Amino acid sequence: MTHIRISGTGSALPPRIVSNHDLEQRVNTSDAWIRERTGIEQRHVADEGIMTSDLATQAARAALDAAGIAASDVDLLIVATTTPDMVFPSTACIVQAKLGIGGCIAFDIQAVCTGFLYGLATAERFMRAGGVRHALVIGAETFTRLLDWNDRGTCVLFGDGAGAVVLSLADQPGLLSSHLHADGHHVGMLCVPGHVDGGRIQPSPFVHMDGQAVFKFAVRVLDEVCREALAANDCSIDAVDWLIPHQANTRILSSTARRLGIDEQRVVVTVPKHGNTSAASVPLALDTAVRDGRVQRGQLLLLTAVGGGFTWGSALLRF
Ligand code: ACO
Repeated sequence: MTHIRISGTGSALPPRIVSNHDLEQRVNTSDAWIRERTGIEQRHVADEGIMTSDLATQAARAALDAAGIAASDVDLLIVATTTPDMVFPSTACIVQAKLGIGGCIAFDIQAVCTGFLYGLATAERFMRAGGVRHALVIGAETFTRLLDWNDRGTCVLFGDGAGAVVLSLADQPGLLSSHLHADGHHVGMLCVPGHVDGGRIQPSPFVHMDGQAVFKFAVRVLDEVCREALAANDCSIDAVDWLIPHQANTRILSSTARRLGIDEQRVVVTVPKHGNTSAASVPLALDTAVRDGRVQRGQLLLLTAVGGGFTWGSALLRF
């Protein structure tokens, strides 16, 4: 059987930080409310001119360095994003050009906050089918551009950033299994209901969300899809060194940890500093924990995410 491991990780954050106190100046909110309901303290926001592909390329370069391979060795390049640079071509093609490579397979995946898991699972299947030795999977967002900064219910939640992994064929098991789901009956629960029509975005270019419904849905499916990954590998949650979930908010993370029966000390939590960076959040959290020394080679990691669509997924891997 073909084995696939993460040979390198990387991430990127735009330099400008927007604190909760900054948001108090714009909308009727408070640092205390945001921290209590979401755990978020600050988020990074891309200035005008910084595109999703810029963050993606920076994260990709860091992941390639960590993997010790050249960009020209990449056979497959996937960018998961909800905020592409353009309607077309794909951000993956733009990143490919910025990395100075051409010829490899490159495309975007749109599964909102589950996008990185969809990218990982897609790359895994390409690699198992043969013909791809190294895959670059990137989650990248300039999600704050979808926010109505006058809507306190949504503008406090999100941030911008990117995370990337290089997947490489390996002798030893790395990625053990990946599990994806979607249910399009919940489109209206979380969406940006806009399409381009004659030069205008109709009917709305902003995030619409039923926060409480999202919360209930998220904790249920994250628990289910994590159990699915554990069962597929005949593995107990006790064997997992780190749960690395989509960073929506700390209350969702705590509820998920409680339902799964994993100590919160073994959950990677980056949402206080990054906010919810959608498709970037899982690889950004992974890279943060790799670089600060929490995640070590040989450890068992359970990655999971849920997002608009609704979509949800998980992956179990030996790092
Ligand atoms: N500051 C102050 N007050 C606020 C704010 C704010 N930023 N936002 C909402 N409120 C108010 C509401 O207007 C409401 O006031 P009212 O009682 O006078 O009507 C009150 O706070 C309570 O509002 P609720 O929506 O009931 O607050 P809730 O406790 O549900 O918290 C939250 C809202 C944080 C959005 C919560 O529902 C949640 O975490 N949902 C998950 C949503 C999420 O994470 N989405 C991310 C995208 S999805 C994903 O990544 C999986």
